[in-house]
Amino acid sequence: GAALALSLTTPAFAQKKLTLGFAQVGAESEWRTANTASIKDAAAKAGINLKFSDAQQKQENQIKAIRSYIAQKVDVIAFAPVVTTGWDTVLKEAKAAKIPVVLTDRSIETSDPSLYVTMIGSDFTEEGRKAARWMLDNVKGDVVHIVELQGTVGSAPAIERKKGFEEVIAGKGSYKIIRSQTGDFTRAKGKEVMEAFLKAEGKKINVLYAHNDDMAIGAIQAIEEAGMKPGKDVIVISVDAVKGAFEAMMAGKMNVSVECNPLLGPQLMDIVKDVVAGKPLPKRINTKEGIFTADIAAKEFPNRKY
Ligand code: AHR
Repeated sequence: GAALALSLTTPAFAQKKLTLGFAQVGAESEWRTANTASIKDAAAKAGINLKFSDAQQKQENQIKAIRSYIAQKVDVIAFAPVVTTGWDTVLKEAKAAKIPVVLTDRSIETSDPSLYVTMIGSDFTEEGRKAARWMLDNVKGDVVHIVELQGTVGSAPAIERKKGFEEVIAGKGSYKIIRSQTGDFTRAKGKEVMEAFLKAEGKKINVLYAHNDDMAIGAIQAIEEAGMKPGKDVIVISVDAVKGAFEAMMAGKMNVSVECNPLLGPQLMDIVKDVVAGKPLPKRINTKEGIFTADIAAKEFPNRKY
């Protein structure tokens, strides 16, 4: 009895440090940078050994990273899937190796949901709806011509933000999406594609709906270079609500940004511990988020954490 009591309290008997393999999308946006920082920070605070990889927005790189985590026999694998499809093979390999998988931020399409334990992230469809509802309430006219900058082709946020937005404007005849193209969630691509939109449609454009702030910020530059006023001549609606968007709103160049919370780190570390402890988890954990407009940007700015 005494020997057992002693061994339970000695450090050698303490819980083994967990290893988490995390396969990140890339570093394409301010949102992503904040998301990465949150995960690294939370892992360190939770005493979890983190193996981290950046896939540079390429699925094949993520698959390689996941395979290397399987080979290294990590305790848990988590990843933010670049695109929704094409994961079953590698996830079956993880399952065969008995390594639980947690999805963060972006969801996948799979015929076998048992291939992952849970998914933590935002409701992107609702974000698209929020963007469209704001537009219906604030932008009126006989015809409202909208150009859309989509996120990465095949990614959950691009698919769902488009879907939610279109769902709300369906049947509202005066709101028309006249151009829609991907800007891959980056500033450079957002600017480039907006330049093409402006070249083709010019002053006809009333509203820009960008699937993230970085593309909106790139597009704002293109609008200014075309001699128009972003925020006025072209109403700018975006998603994420990162600091860059608040700065653009305070400068009167962006009208609204729907919040998407990247600070998933602490919750993810709790999930990792729960998974290893065998606690049951809901299949889907949604993050809570709001919407921020230009008129309250200056007041809210000091409270922003990303
Ligand atoms: O998956 C979340 C999206 O990915 C963010 O909205 C965007 O900024 C990021 O690149």
